[in-house]
Amino acid sequence: MTTFTTDRLHLRPIEVSDLDALVALDSDPEVMRYIGAAPSRDVVARELLPRMRQYADQPFGFFAAEVAGGFIGWFHLRPSVADPTIHELGYRLQRRWWGVGLATEGSLALCLHAFDALGMPAVDACALPENLPSIRVMEKCGMSLIGRLIHPRGGMEVVRYLVTRATFEDRVRPGRVGERT
Ligand SMILES: CC(C)(COP(=O)(O)OP(=O)(O)OC[C@H]1O[C@@H](n2cnc3c(N)ncnc32)[C@H](O)[C@@H]1OP(=O)(O)O)[C@@H](O)C(=O)NCCC(=O)NCCS
Repeated sequence: MTTFTTDRLHLRPIEVSDLDALVALDSDPEVMRYIGAAPSRDVVARELLPRMRQYADQPFGFFAAEVAGGFIGWFHLRPSVADPTIHELGYRLQRRWWGVGLATEGSLALCLHAFDALGMPAVDACALPENLPSIRVMEKCGMSLIGRLIHPRGGMEVVRYLVTRATFEDRVRPGRVGERT
């Protein structure tokens, strides 16, 4: 089982027992502002949770984020919708945890895993163009704008950001931040 521990977060694979927490997370309209309507409990149970758990036996997938043992949201590292040879980063946190760097902290852990353990040449991420907090997290992971695409899940036009291994090594890898700026 792949898990990650950062300064403040513990990331572990999403489990069936996370259903209530996932439903509660998506019930906040601010959390879903740039994503879509809140799914019903039935949709989460029958469609979304199985989709999130489809990578449960892989060293990537959807990871519950915990602080002091409590669920605060999730991250994903999964095959990119734009390029299946690389992995796509994603995140969704409870509103009360926003603005203190936790999305960046978890995302950097998953980027390190993608490059170091999985040997990915790049990591990408997508967001609605107006989702500035999400785009800022991508930028803090070293990503830059690649283009736009119609996202196959949801059918909305999104911006696609990407960081190559070389850029991550040069500009982002912890310990090197600021060295070359
Ligand atoms: C996107 C999300 C995960 C970010 O979580 P977070 O823990 O607050 O992110 P961080 O604190 O690591 O970084 C947020 C950055 O966005 C910046 N930011 C916040 N609001 C902003 C705004 N309106 N405009 C521009 N930048 C903004 C913050 O200042 C911070 O950047 P900084 O460190 O340079 O100051 C969180 O807002 C969330 O869960 N949103 C709902 C779900 C969602 O939209 N997920 C992404 C779908 S693509």
